[in-house]
Amino acid sequence: MNSPAASAPTPSFLERNDFLIRRLHSLSGLVPVGAYMCVHLITNASLLGGASVFQNNVFTIHSLPFLPLIEWVFIFSPIIFHAVVGIWIAKSGRSNLQNYRLTGNRRYTWQRMTGYIAIIFIFTHVFHLHGWFHSDWWLKSVAEPMGMAQFRPYNAASSLANAMNSLGVVWPIFYAIGVLACTFHLANGIWTAGITWGVWLTPKSQNRASIACALFGVLIGMAGLSSLVAVKTTDAKAAEVIENEMYKSRIDAHTITPDDHKRSGTHESVEVKPVPVQ
Ligand code: HEM
Repeated sequence: MNSPAASAPTPSFLERNDFLIRRLHSLSGLVPVGAYMCVHLITNASLLGGASVFQNNVFTIHSLPFLPLIEWVFIFSPIIFHAVVGIWIAKSGRSNLQNYRLTGNRRYTWQRMTGYIAIIFIFTHVFHLHGWFHSDWWLKSVAEPMGMAQFRPYNAASSLANAMNSLGVVWPIFYAIGVLACTFHLANGIWTAGITWGVWLTPKSQNRASIACALFGVLIGMAGLSSLVAVKTTDAKAAEVIENEMYKSRIDAHTITPDDHKRSGTHESVEVKPVPVQ
């Protein structure tokens, strides 16, 4: 007969590395995913300043070298990792319930619910505006015929407004729910991360942290929702005229290279003027 030790099932990879995986999950939620979300929502809120302010910010992002690589290494992969491990933690049932002993189960339930909503939202949102992959075949044969991959970085405000208004109130409502879910998930996630990493351990410091996280959530949620209001009040046609002027000046100044894929519709191509010899 086997001894109890001999018949015990071998722990899986995930069980053996439980501690490390949970720490990486917590860290990835803060940096880069949470940090990216804050920068992203603030950039979007710059649309409140008008089409030209938003366009300048998008030009800055799109002048980064190796953008698809940056997106996959620092944005998409960490989000996918955080989502997959998050589902595993939620399903394994061995959650960090002790973190919640002071506030009951409510926040824990909301953290899980908003996590699921965030996964659906981010997956759909990236498909809707960005398209996930930059391959021409994918964009022209799959994403665009489905009404996805609608954002044009060199016609930023106008293409965003057109994409958001394409199904009446459906997209704005979907985005409002998604932004609020992501905001709660991040703000409450910062609070639980503070416990995971031993930053606030006493009931008093946890209460103070709760208030700070709630304030942070309100601010970042307002930034997200305000960009939706800005999108709704953008005149796409007027914005497009401004964007095309800015595109021409940027080409003349050699700060961007011509790229019709990043523009809406069929604009006339812009000639690159030779750099004057000194
Ligand atoms: C008001 C709400 C939002 C608006 C208007 C918005 C707008 C946009 C736009 C225009 C893009 C395309 C950027 C590009 O291709 O250059 C984008 C991409 C993306 N958004 Fe959002 N977004 C919103 C909320 C969120 C939230 C809450 C998240 C959560 C993390 C998020 C995550 C992403 C990701 C991961 C990408 C792809 C990254 C990339 O394009 O480099 N977005 N968003």
